[in-house]
Amino acid sequence: MSIDLALKDRVALITGGSRGLGAATARLLAAEGAKLVLAARSAGDLAKLADDLHAAYGTQSEAIPVDLTDPQSAEAAAAKAREAFGRIDILVNSAGASQGGLFWEIPDKVWDESFDLKVMGTVRMMRAVIPGMIAQKYGRIVNIVGNTGLQPSPRLLPGSAANAALLAITRGLGEELAPHNVIVNAINPGPTRTERWTTLMNRLAQGSRRTIAEVEGDYTAQIPRGELAQPEEIANWIVFLCSDRAANMVGGSITADGGWSKGIG
Ligand SMILES: NC(=O)c1ccc[n+]([C@@H]2O[C@H](COP(=O)([O-])OP(=O)(O)OC[C@H]3O[C@@H](n4cnc5c(N)ncnc54)[C@H](OP(=O)(O)O)[C@@H]3O)[C@@H](O)[C@H]2O)c1
Repeated sequence: MSIDLALKDRVALITGGSRGLGAATARLLAAEGAKLVLAARSAGDLAKLADDLHAAYGTQSEAIPVDLTDPQSAEAAAAKAREAFGRIDILVNSAGASQGGLFWEIPDKVWDESFDLKVMGTVRMMRAVIPGMIAQKYGRIVNIVGNTGLQPSPRLLPGSAANAALLAITRGLGEELAPHNVIVNAINPGPTRTERWTTLMNRLAQGSRRTIAEVEGDYTAQIPRGELAQPEEIANWIVFLCSDRAANMVGGSITADGGWSKGIG
């Protein structure tokens, strides 16, 4: 018996849906027959991905250029998605970026940016879609968090703290929404080869006057599998969590980090 993810014609809104993990998720959801709403800042990147997916799978999609650090943007994106498709079944929150460095050298601005986009962007997007999901008695929300929420990384503390906050929100909200058939879960990727990772390695290398390969080597040395994940490997889990097959998991998270995290809880 094969696993039917039953995602055909589901409407999925993906933030950070133009690149990296969001784009890899968009591809897999498109292959499953979902309709897509792609949100990120660059209209050009969004339009290119939407065209590619239409050519490959005949995907119906709506591209929404939006800066999720703007407090009004989440409501506006959700309204445009509903205008285009009449409903939102799935929300994947993948917009996020956090810089790292030595804790005592990280200024307030970096902390603010990390929380503003990753935590508040996710909070605002969920707030914007949840009432509609409750009314239609169906919703799947997947927050792309990160394994540093469970095992903080000393040089990545703004992101680690943002991730821990999102895991707490995912857990509590999962309990609140499950009776409405709105299922909230998270995924904790470890280091994954996307643009964000490359930028992070560049910045850490500049800050420590070491080569990018040396800095990255510190991270791969902690991964028993010995290599970074590819975005598609993480997207497999995300798409599974978007499906009804994962509906018995509520407010939880899947850690997919090549064995980096050592905890058992
Ligand atoms: N890659 C990893 O190793 C890794 C590991 C653990 C967790 N994560 C988490 O996974 C999520 C996705 O990371 P990624 O590696 O896929 O990043 P990425 O390759 O840099 O992609 C980030 C996406 O977010 C969009 N974005 C950035 N700022 C935005 C804003 N202000 N408003 C709206 N959209 C915005 C980007 O498009 P625009 O620039 O056009 O806006 C892009 O589509 C992040 O939350 C990250 O912390 C990543």
